[in-house]
Amino acid sequence: MIAVHAAPPKAKLTPEHPFRLNTGRIRDQWHTMTRSGRSARLNRHMGEPFLEIHPEDARALGLAPASLAELRGQGARAVLRVLVSERARRGEVFAPIHWSGETAPTGRIDAVVGPHVDPHSGQPEAKAAAVSVAPFAAKWFGFAVSTALPAPKADYWARARSEQGWRLELAGAETPEDWEAEARALFGLPEARLTRVSDSARGIERLAFHEDGRLVAALFVSPRPVAVSREHLASLLGGEGAQALSGRPGADMPDPGPVLCACLGVGVNTILSAIESGAALSVEAIGAALGAGTNCGSCRPEIAALLANARMREAAE
Ligand code: FES
Repeated sequence: MIAVHAAPPKAKLTPEHPFRLNTGRIRDQWHTMTRSGRSARLNRHMGEPFLEIHPEDARALGLAPASLAELRGQGARAVLRVLVSERARRGEVFAPIHWSGETAPTGRIDAVVGPHVDPHSGQPEAKAAAVSVAPFAAKWFGFAVSTALPAPKADYWARARSEQGWRLELAGAETPEDWEAEARALFGLPEARLTRVSDSARGIERLAFHEDGRLVAALFVSPRPVAVSREHLASLLGGEGAQALSGRPGADMPDPGPVLCACLGVGVNTILSAIESGAALSVEAIGAALGAGTNCGSCRPEIAALLANARMREAAE
């Protein structure tokens, strides 16, 4: 037993580094994902690194939801997806520890954490770094799916396993001149058949590549964070992918939305529809109706939060 005394963080907040950065685990990953990152199922919940920030701080900094933020500290930088959330306290931000140079080179949060260590345990001050936060000036955002491991060179990228291959988030500070050449290099597909929808006035590009009649890769580009159904696109890989460029399931196929329950593959939209229809109004009822939350249970707090939000909305109406 060692008697210890609480001490303030060694990293001091300054006008240059005014935010306290807390780092930690997320629900479905472990360490640097050397094992959990191989599971397509575990990657469905959170496919890229993020920065959780209070709505007031995000507004003051001009950080829109799903845009990208640049953190600086210790002479290093990280670029992370913005997650605006009341769970973050004002003046404090949270970022996960799991992404490495292999999965998201600008998502390595350890780079901005100071070298101070606890005198007894030797643990780094990973819960109390001092950082600056600013918008990352992206000219374009991209989302891609590919059956083969892609080779991204963009300023920002994060890749994750999917059932049929890979999914990839991208962004860049400069817009490439030739999107076809860019996509062919990204996917390593010099000869594959290309289908393309392009609206250069709005900065929108959609490219799908087929080999032997099968969809092997697709890239969606927009000047704003790309709004397509990621689960749907990832599920089209390896099939005909005839409607892939629409980015959404057809009207006869409801979009389940981002996966909330990774164990059972249940999306946020599916849970919200069950709540809104009145068919399931408790965590247990949602489990009984959809299966969500009935295996490892780690998504149950998020299901409870969806229910609480729905009740608040109803009370306000
Ligand atoms: S994530 Fe395991 S039960 Fe939902």
